[in-house]
Amino acid sequence: MRSFNGRDILSLKEFGREEYFRIFEVSDRLAPFARDRQNTDLLAHKTLVTAFYQPSTRTRLAHEAAMHRLGGHVLGFSDAKMTRAGDFYQESIKDTVRMLEFYGDALVMRHFQQGAPHEAARWASIPVINAGDGWGEHPTQVLTDLYTILKEKGRLDGLKFLLIGDMRMRTMHSISYAMTQFDIDAFYVSPPEMSLTDEFKGEITALNLNFREIEHVEEAIGEVDVIYMEPVVQPDYTKSRDERSGDVGMTPANYKVTKDLLRKAKQDAIILHSLPRMDELPMDVDDTRHARYWIEAYNGVVVRMALLALILGAME
Ligand code: CP
Repeated sequence: MRSFNGRDILSLKEFGREEYFRIFEVSDRLAPFARDRQNTDLLAHKTLVTAFYQPSTRTRLAHEAAMHRLGGHVLGFSDAKMTRAGDFYQESIKDTVRMLEFYGDALVMRHFQQGAPHEAARWASIPVINAGDGWGEHPTQVLTDLYTILKEKGRLDGLKFLLIGDMRMRTMHSISYAMTQFDIDAFYVSPPEMSLTDEFKGEITALNLNFREIEHVEEAIGEVDVIYMEPVVQPDYTKSRDERSGDVGMTPANYKVTKDLLRKAKQDAIILHSLPRMDELPMDVDDTRHARYWIEAYNGVVVRMALLALILGAME
């Protein structure tokens, strides 16, 4: 297995099965600090730089919280408009990163351009974490999701997933790559204009994922263990910011998971949603035994603690 020390976390495409389990083992070891709201000094002499060119609540703050839990330091920006990349100069990723690498020991970047963190990694001498790039990938979110599933179901192999939403979404790409490393059957449901591209289907087929595209959620809801959701009413992820203007429309019934629909689900099926949500996941579902998205959000801190400890060489 490749060492994580000094490594960029850009995509799950090349992640091997044993690498997932290594991250989950380290997550288990560090979880008590997050659970007990305690900080340690594992990364006391390290600094994380956050470069967020697109809005975020969970991903940026979970990385920051993780760094604080490990006794490290954080600096960065959450609005590129306040940097030279967002004003008259439109400073390039190369020039920006050639500065940021002097300010800390690891860089976590969210960007509206697909591949921007990969470009940053070309120029940075410190590890770069992809916190979401356009419609590309969101590897740390999906590591969190798999860890949550492992904790809740006790295994990853032998499970069936129902993926509902916009298949252009970066989480859908990362989870699809991840599923190829486990014995997982996947059903995908999306509006036709948001379906998996032929190119991507070719990729996951070549990686031996056992998957089927279905038209209606009801075709699979009764046999799946994990319901993995994203909105279909969403912003344009290729923009630095997409403000809501006027009526954004409602989610068609076929892409919603309601309490009523859940009557047809397996007793122990769990729902994950990376959040934020629109109306595809009504708030009364929060009170059902199926909801796991709050624990998923909490695990976001735990898994980022593990990743930071590993790439900064504090754990092997
Ligand atoms: N899950 C997630 O990526 O949320 P944020 O956009 O708030 O970071």
